[in-house]
Amino acid sequence: MTRPDTPSVRPEAPTGHQAHGHPAVGPRPLARTRSFTRRGGRMLKDSHQAAWDRYADALVLDVPRPHGADGSTGVDPAHRMDPEEVFGRTAPLVIEIGSGSGDALVHAATEQPGWDFLALEVWRPGIGHAMAKMGKGEPLTNVRFVEADAALALQTILPPGCAHEVWTFFPDPWPKTRHHKRRLVSAEFASTVADLVRPGSLWRLATDWADYADAMRTVLDRHTAWELESTERAPLRPLTRFERRGIEAGRHITDLAYRRG
Ligand SMILES: C[S@@+](CC[C@H](N)C(=O)[O-])C[C@H]1O[C@@H](n2cnc3c(N)ncnc32)[C@H](O)[C@@H]1O
Repeated sequence: MTRPDTPSVRPEAPTGHQAHGHPAVGPRPLARTRSFTRRGGRMLKDSHQAAWDRYADALVLDVPRPHGADGSTGVDPAHRMDPEEVFGRTAPLVIEIGSGSGDALVHAATEQPGWDFLALEVWRPGIGHAMAKMGKGEPLTNVRFVEADAALALQTILPPGCAHEVWTFFPDPWPKTRHHKRRLVSAEFASTVADLVRPGSLWRLATDWADYADAMRTVLDRHTAWELESTERAPLRPLTRFERRGIEAGRHITDLAYRRG
């Protein structure tokens, strides 16, 4: 599979480090189109920092970072992770992409202790917030976080066919037309997700933006790996801040479940 956003190389004369005689650094890659921006930086409010300090060692997986522009949100493409080793058991695995402040994740992991949940999130304050929702007792043993850009990390870190379900709830909508290219759900990403699941598994999505719902359907209906299974609300999806905000703004909520063929 080709990576659509692999940094391409500037053809022009060397600049920056290279121009200053640092050949090891090489030409600067063009910036990738990312599905996220660093909202409010990485500062956590006190209660979320306290939860991070209490649980991060156990729940946030340590991943080696690549060199270069993706140094803080990428994962070294040589790094591999075995979910059965990570969780210490064999259980159905749900991968949540963009878990935000963890509403769906913590709810579902509490309701389904027999399943394991791997959340990919670039926004550290969200991970801290999700851990704060676990309270002050023992952390949920069936949850782990990877602080990374899912569009990159999921291409390489996990074994093919490892996931029972993949969830992408309320991905950043990027409503302006000129920003649509930043939307996470694309044909390339659909191929990445298709590699993560076994035939028969589901990719569950939800959005409160009608044109993003249409775009998701267009992409996934055309994709040979995916087939529309349902437009019913995902069973374990609770009402979250993003859904409530969408409803209050008069937007319709779309749930989609696509089955891997
Ligand atoms: C609008 S929020 C929704 C959060 C959550 N799913 C919910 O329903 O409450 C989207 C989240 O996706 C995260 N995100 C965006 N692009 C991402 C990427 N490429 N990899 C991992 N997380 C990403 C953002 O940081 C943000 O927390």
